[in-house]
Amino acid sequence: MWKVVWAVLLSVTVCSHRAEAEEEGGKPSLGHVSVVIVGSTGDLAKKYLWQGFFQLYMNQVSNGHSFSFYGGGLSPADKAKPILFKILKGVTCSEDVSAERCALLKEQFLRLAQYKQLNTTKHYQELNTQLRQQVTQEGLTEAGRLFYLSVPAFAYADIAKKINGSCRPATGAWLRVVLEKPFGHDFHNAQTLVTDLANSLEDKEMYRIDHYLGKQVVSGILPFRKENKRFLDPIWNKHHIERIEIVLKETLDAKGRISFYDQYGVIRDVIQNHLTEVMTLLTLSLPANMSNCDDILQNKLKLFSVLKPLDKRRAVIGQYQSYNAEVQQELNKTMDHVSLTPTFAGVMVHIDMAQYDGLPIILTSGKMLDERVGYARVLFKNEIFCVQNYKSIYCKPKQIIFYFGHGSLQYPAILVSKNLFKPQLINSEWKEVTEHKVVSVLGLPITDYYVQMPIVQKEAYAELISQVYHGRKENFISAENLLASWGFWTPLLESLHGSFPRIYPGGAENTNLLDFHLQGQELKFSSEAVVVIPQDKVGGAGSTSFQTMQGKYKGTDMVSAWPEDLVERLAADMQEAAEAAVREGGTFHLALSGGSSPIALFQRLVEHHYSFPWRDTHVWLVDERCVPLTEVDSNFFHLHDNLLQHVRIPYTNIHPMPVQLNQRLCVEEDRGAPLYEKDILHLVNTSSFHFVLLGVGFDGHTASLFPGSQVNHGDSLVVLTESPVKPHQRMSLTFNVLNRAHKVAVLVMGKSKHELVTQLSRVKDDPKKWPITGVQPNSGKLVWYIDYDALLG
Ligand code: BG6
Repeated sequence: MWKVVWAVLLSVTVCSHRAEAEEEGGKPSLGHVSVVIVGSTGDLAKKYLWQGFFQLYMNQVSNGHSFSFYGGGLSPADKAKPILFKILKGVTCSEDVSAERCALLKEQFLRLAQYKQLNTTKHYQELNTQLRQQVTQEGLTEAGRLFYLSVPAFAYADIAKKINGSCRPATGAWLRVVLEKPFGHDFHNAQTLVTDLANSLEDKEMYRIDHYLGKQVVSGILPFRKENKRFLDPIWNKHHIERIEIVLKETLDAKGRISFYDQYGVIRDVIQNHLTEVMTLLTLSLPANMSNCDDILQNKLKLFSVLKPLDKRRAVIGQYQSYNAEVQQELNKTMDHVSLTPTFAGVMVHIDMAQYDGLPIILTSGKMLDERVGYARVLFKNEIFCVQNYKSIYCKPKQIIFYFGHGSLQYPAILVSKNLFKPQLINSEWKEVTEHKVVSVLGLPITDYYVQMPIVQKEAYAELISQVYHGRKENFISAENLLASWGFWTPLLESLHGSFPRIYPGGAENTNLLDFHLQGQELKFSSEAVVVIPQDKVGGAGSTSFQTMQGKYKGTDMVSAWPEDLVERLAADMQEAAEAAVREGGTFHLALSGGSSPIALFQRLVEHHYSFPWRDTHVWLVDERCVPLTEVDSNFFHLHDNLLQHVRIPYTNIHPMPVQLNQRLCVEEDRGAPLYEKDILHLVNTSSFHFVLLGVGFDGHTASLFPGSQVNHGDSLVVLTESPVKPHQRMSLTFNVLNRAHKVAVLVMGKSKHELVTQLSRVKDDPKKWPITGVQPNSGKLVWYIDYDALLG
């Protein structure tokens, strides 16, 4: 009997970890197994867990194990018992079990289950005594204890401590503790949780569950890739894939779980875990030996390390309209309370690997949408240009869809467009579907696909519960995997903090309000949201238009506008300067600063200024941090990432600062600064840049010229400087060369700069205290570009 069960298990998983000691040799030890669900009357337990354990009981009852089930919770027994009883009565048998047998199994299951209040250490001690007594009285041997923690993560460490201190099984029996997601709130919180739990439980005892890994289609992704390797290898790359979409749409709201949901939101609830896991399975490099889980895990971790960092420009967020009222009600908040928790998000991810370079991977999920459906879609480019017979299969979209369930199809399946290839079946547990009802899936009639589906449909929780019971960990989340995922998502969550989600009515009424599109490196909602601009914030003396106003700041020209308009104007001014310079002398010398403000400008140039004379432009840096240019801290890195790699500029026209020479960083005797100076003198006529873009730091620094440091640099054009913040060492252009420029633009953006802008407008010019005030072009022009947020606060 065991041999059979084991063989089935191995056939559905790609890889296997060494099973726990008592199961080596493929034969679980028999004896008594106690199952304890902590949080046993909660939503999840009610919907899935009890049913999953009943399934386990049904499957295993005849194999020699005996079971007892404890529903644990904080409430006293008299309150919780009737609720638990009602849930237990609701469990169901699969279709192949006769009504008679089902009634018998249910009755047995009910007899084996009981409620136990689990709040204090004493309660856990009592439970321990009870478990021991039961085993002794019935003359059984204890095989193991399985705790399922279906409670918020903040309670884990305390419960684990109590289990460890008072409720470990007898020597020789196993302990397995299942931990529900979301496992943590951000990277640091998850790290603390991992460390705290390690004080009470061994790693092999912890099963961090992500129920998506129990979905048949999700666990079929790697086997599908393996079985169809010869078809996929040539096309699984940026040259052939247009984009990958991973989507989980729901019609339900968050009512009844707001106390949890409002702290987490859609990204933490499903994107950081479920959708990210799917993304890694789709894109990790397949190891040579697919039967080794460690190799798969290592490749997964490698993938996390090459995901491009996220920030809010790569995301759109929304919130369904009635959510805020639900928060006020469930959390007892006043009517003026505003929750910014997103219930909808779309995020674009890129992988920094030659294979996937530039390929957008879009992860989307939301509550209160028009339908319930989950899928991952790999959409291929179609190079065929159909001249006439465009209804033919060859002219249609080419896609592979991993359909998790629900939606129009209603069952889990893997679909491959017939114009791609005829896929191999994953394994003997899957069948090809050839008879279909009339239905279309993501734009194509079902008959345009090769379809395969599992012969027997299994519920994800039941599947994973069975794997815990067998001590199989390959479909659970390891600590490294977890931290890598939080490490990836935390910067986005931080950058979205305080952002206003787009409000949507819910259901079909959302129409196209949540549609979004890719704009270069950014995601944008496709329809405009109405922005109301307070009248006192625009216009005034010198106003030229509603969007942009021109005025004076510190005695020189200033342009001010809302951020997008400001950037648009600056990009236009820059292109005008470039064209004029190229017309006059054949080249345009542009010196650019680092920091976050210019990024929007770079993107604007990439996306809207196709006629910019890049071929005749030389790009210089106004300053650089003394770090390798490949590091995210480096100004060049951002310049390259957001601008240079997207435009046709000759390599020889790009002039990064030589901060790394002789394999060391900014060492005076390596003479990096004089080297850069020499290049400027050699290439830039009278060392006068045509256009210099500067920013201002909170302390008034510009380029890498900081308050309190040397102002007079003799004749030097380039120097090494010290910054008060890390990385301390910098290389910078000096006032000598900055003030020789034809035009200097100082770009200041964001509310956080308002204080600075106000202060600067009042202070006297004093470059030692306020370096930016030392920028006074000798014969060129200085223009301030300040957005409304920075100007008006
Ligand atoms: C859970 C989330 O993990 O996944 C829920 O907490 C979400 O908010 C659910 O509804 C979706 O799972 P499924 O299996 O219905 O797609």
